[in-house]
Amino acid sequence: MSGSEEEPISGEVAGAAGVGGVIEPRQLSQVEPYSPLLLISAVPHRRSTPLPCPWRTQLPGTSTPMATRQRESSITSCSSASSCDADDEGVRGTCEDASLCKRFAVSIGYWHDPYIQHFVRLSKERKAPEINRGYFARVHGVSQLIKAFLRKTECHCQIINLGAGMDTTFWRLKDEDLLPSKYFEVDFPMIVTRKLHTIKCKPPLSSPILELHSEDTLQMDGHILDSKRYAVIGADLRDLSELEEKLKKCNMNTQLPTLLIAECVLVYMTPEQSASLLKWAANSFEAAMFINYEQVNMGDRFGQIMIENLRRRQCDLAGVETCKSLESQKERLLSNGWETASAVDMMELYNRLPRAEVSRIESLEFLDEMELLEQLMRHYCLCWATKGGKELGLKEITY
Ligand SMILES: C[S@@+](CC[C@H](N)C(=O)[O-])C[C@H]1O[C@@H](n2cnc3c(N)ncnc32)[C@H](O)[C@@H]1O
Repeated sequence: MSGSEEEPISGEVAGAAGVGGVIEPRQLSQVEPYSPLLLISAVPHRRSTPLPCPWRTQLPGTSTPMATRQRESSITSCSSASSCDADDEGVRGTCEDASLCKRFAVSIGYWHDPYIQHFVRLSKERKAPEINRGYFARVHGVSQLIKAFLRKTECHCQIINLGAGMDTTFWRLKDEDLLPSKYFEVDFPMIVTRKLHTIKCKPPLSSPILELHSEDTLQMDGHILDSKRYAVIGADLRDLSELEEKLKKCNMNTQLPTLLIAECVLVYMTPEQSASLLKWAANSFEAAMFINYEQVNMGDRFGQIMIENLRRRQCDLAGVETCKSLESQKERLLSNGWETASAVDMMELYNRLPRAEVSRIESLEFLDEMELLEQLMRHYCLCWATKGGKELGLKEITY
């Protein structure tokens, strides 16, 4: 871990993440993805972790211009009625949970990410080793598939990260010289406004974007940043016409091989809404791949407890029905326009990780109850699907 990873982040971000009620600690430590809430009935919890606060709804002003000219700033307005819906507050809060967990795992050396520190402060409470290992496997699995797609397309492609939250893949790919022709991110306008504010305030985040942007102006308002190689769009993924319109405004190219990523996102939509999104994605591009990471095997007691605890946080797993099994996950992809679909649960993926990496991460922290890890990992999965792209060999991509 580099020393700079421990740098405090800006007041606004720290404030937003740090305010919040403390809910019965044994109920809630990290809600997503490895919601140990699940374990409350069976296993005495070792830690007491306060509930991280969802994002503030009112965001600090973003008056600092990022480049020579800043267009229209509309920081607190929402672009669609549904995006302002208070019902989505719990779902938006999961963005904070995911970032906190990633930041914590990075701080103890699970993987290298010098960018996450800028988006979220380091959690005071330790995250459990099984959660950290789970995040390691998730980040590793998703990253392997992304890199396989980039190799097949020789980076002549685009990536659209749906429900990206504070994801840092764009910067990490740039560091590895693996950027696609264009990298898009989509999330609720409120989340995007916060992300853009952080990007503007932090040169390690803004400089790489500016460096790749040859023109002297950068399109940016409260909910959209559009640059040559990177775009961040505030939109509701359940409103497909809005989504498409905004992506096209940012020069999405439907002729380019396209990778869409949804990491713990589809489960927050109803099965109909996620099916429409998947169908839209399959129909929009000639050659495409979809990566979905989320819950699976949710029909058991473990799943039930997770659902109940999230509901208490006003966070509804509206799409849990599709998370019954690996088969139901694949079936949703195949019945919505995707030609191939594969899925592995995270325990299987963990068992397939390179042995050297497993030894390294397992030496970082002691985990005395392997069954905790197994239980968690069996309830998450990595799925991927392809359509077209025969000449590129997209169908051959596997974990
Ligand atoms: C659990 S977080 C995951 C964030 C990120 N994918 C990651 O893995 O770090 C889920 C994200 O999906 C976003 N999201 C969920 N439903 C959405 C919708 N209908 N429209 C836009 N974003 C949505 C949330 O705001 C949140 O940022």
